[in-house]
Amino acid sequence: MADLTTRLGTLTLPNPVMTASGCAANGRELHRFFDVSELGAFVTKTVMADPRSGRPTPRMAETPSGMLNSIGLQGPGIGAFLDKDLTWLKSVGARVLVSIAGNTAVEFAQVARDLVAHPAFDAVVGVEVNISCPNVANRGLVFACDPMSSAKVVSLVREELPRDFPMFAKLTPDVTDIVAIADAAVRAGAGGLTMINTLLGIAIDTDRMRPQLAAVTGGLSGPAVRPVAVRAIWQCTAAMRENRIDAVPIIGVGGVRSGLDALELLAAGASAVQVGTATFNDPSAPRRVLTELESALDERGFASLTDVVGLAHDRKVTL
Ligand code: FUM
Repeated sequence: MADLTTRLGTLTLPNPVMTASGCAANGRELHRFFDVSELGAFVTKTVMADPRSGRPTPRMAETPSGMLNSIGLQGPGIGAFLDKDLTWLKSVGARVLVSIAGNTAVEFAQVARDLVAHPAFDAVVGVEVNISCPNVANRGLVFACDPMSSAKVVSLVREELPRDFPMFAKLTPDVTDIVAIADAAVRAGAGGLTMINTLLGIAIDTDRMRPQLAAVTGGLSGPAVRPVAVRAIWQCTAAMRENRIDAVPIIGVGGVRSGLDALELLAAGASAVQVGTATFNDPSAPRRVLTELESALDERGFASLTDVVGLAHDRKVTL
């Protein structure tokens, strides 16, 4: 059996499969289908300082090979999250990657401060800084569209975390140059990158001749976006290898439904993968992907997961 251990900078996990933020709430629902502590990490729904009801309904729409969501960062706020959700995740032994956001850079830092101060923080293996949610009032609030805004958020959050604590900046592919954004985030203190968040999209109901989502726009996810995720991971990995950006680990996310999909993201340069939209029609998907990935590595004769990370870059292409 292949060794599935993965290293993400200062974080070592027994396997590389995680949930994707926002697709499995904070674990209780999924735990009815499999033990969430078996995953490399459980990634929480993005939490902000205050409770939020999110955007108006309808806020989900099916699209070809994917879906749009315009949830709008609904959540209980950091206080209730810590006392109820993080405490529960700790009680079942999950390794928790907490996704945080704020309306301002200062609010991101405030959420991080509250997190670090809580007794259940010892269950937290890392923080994912969600600077890329598309479901915000205006594009100026998508911090990951701008290198300086990204750097400001990351540096303020970094100041709140223990030294070298794992922190991943979650990026959007809806930019001209994702390497420039990644570079800014890494220079500001991100120890890793999560790529990609959903892509901004619109679907129109042709009976009503109206947008399907009440908020008009939403984030596109699912298999339709997987090649975009592979592209973003590839570009940043290539830039690291060419030294145009410091080398940091990448968590790949976007349209993973199977072990082979996960292998694709790993071969492009990711050291871990998140499973998101697939859980809506198969709640066991993250656990199944882990089993399938293990088989795929064995069938291909790889002794270790680390052998395949970025491997596609090493292969000479013959046409
Ligand atoms: O609208 C949402 O809650 C989605 C968040 C995200 O894509 O980061």
